[in-house]
Amino acid sequence: MKMDYLANAVKWVQNGYVISYYRNKPFFLLGAIPGEWVEFQILKENKNHGFGVVKNIIEKNPIRIKSDCQIFGECGGCFYRHIEYSEEIKIKLNLLCELSEIKDLILRGRYDLYVSPYVSYRNQVKVHFFKNQIGFYKMFSNTLIHLPDEGCRNLSIEFNKAIQNLYLNNKFKSITKEEKFYFIKNQLYYGEQTFIFDIPKNKTWQLSAKCFLQTNRFLIYEWLDWISRKIQNFTQKKKIKILELFSGTMLISSSFLEKIEYIEGYELNTDSIQYAKINLEKYKIKHQLIKKDLYKDKIFFKDHFDFIIINPPRKGFGNLLLQNLKDKNSPILYSSCNPITFNRDVIFLKKYGYKIFDFAIFDFFPRTYHLEIVALLAK
Ligand SMILES: C[S@@+](CC[C@H](N)C(=O)[O-])C[C@H]1O[C@@H](n2cnc3c(N)ncnc32)[C@H](O)[C@@H]1O
Repeated sequence: MKMDYLANAVKWVQNGYVISYYRNKPFFLLGAIPGEWVEFQILKENKNHGFGVVKNIIEKNPIRIKSDCQIFGECGGCFYRHIEYSEEIKIKLNLLCELSEIKDLILRGRYDLYVSPYVSYRNQVKVHFFKNQIGFYKMFSNTLIHLPDEGCRNLSIEFNKAIQNLYLNNKFKSITKEEKFYFIKNQLYYGEQTFIFDIPKNKTWQLSAKCFLQTNRFLIYEWLDWISRKIQNFTQKKKIKILELFSGTMLISSSFLEKIEYIEGYELNTDSIQYAKINLEKYKIKHQLIKKDLYKDKIFFKDHFDFIIINPPRKGFGNLLLQNLKDKNSPILYSSCNPITFNRDVIFLKKYGYKIFDFAIFDFFPRTYHLEIVALLAK
């Protein structure tokens, strides 16, 4: 194990870290607050910069609070458990102001902000099993950190208990080393197991635990409602044609099914495509679902859609898709879990005439550095 070093924490930067300088080299620290003198342990270092975690505070910033999780700073999932949630929101907004296409929207107050209860909010978790223990991987390593007795603070008490019980009942034999669990309506699901998710307007959506579902059980409905309202307000038409890219089970479009004349979806995950089909058939929506790797496969779609909905992974659109969108005219609804790649994609789209008409921030991931942002772009 490396020694502890002393540093002055300077400024919050992207991805939850506080930058500090040690021997004239920037170090990105987890668990520091600007203005503090801290001792830290180096986790990773190269010629130009390093990463570390705070081990001891020599001079404390008064906004520091005691973390409510014993493994904060070890598991690397959370970055803001040592400050109040209201401070975390301020930091997240300030960091958005570092991004050219978002700064002005924030400074002029042209955004909707949705915050979340900051504990027990996750409807899913990926845990690892190792030598009869449950836990998460330590930052920058594949060493396991055991979950404390009370479990992960981002899951409800019942969710934590359900995972523990599965373990105590010795059912882990059927589970792989790493497993994603969903906890929906007080019931645990994993692997091929299917569940029914309630969607707006008293409808239901069927998924398996292998499909993607947004994480925050409190904000998911407000997010769907925002998107559905913005899309419907933007078009005068009674019925619309939708293209969804990185479409998952098409949960986004599920929030305005009655408005859809035809929907086309592109997605890589076979399970998601299968369940999208089941749901669209149930509600008699004319559709076409196509399996494609949108980062590798060229796709050809017509310019006749009333809306293009794009909700990509953290990487953003990818070059192939950006080239494809250059000569399109349809409005775009872009929901992103990575403001940095969102900003890069919007810079590109702007060159071809798109601009942002509406913008919202959904803090789907309290205590972590992640954030969901949504924009309606049109020419
Ligand atoms: C953020 S999720 C959005 C899903 C959907 N909008 C929803 O809310 O259920 C991103 C989706 O992109 C899919 N995906 C990941 N990599 C992909 C790729 N290379 N090509 C196509 N789809 C991909 C994932 O399977 C996932 O369903």
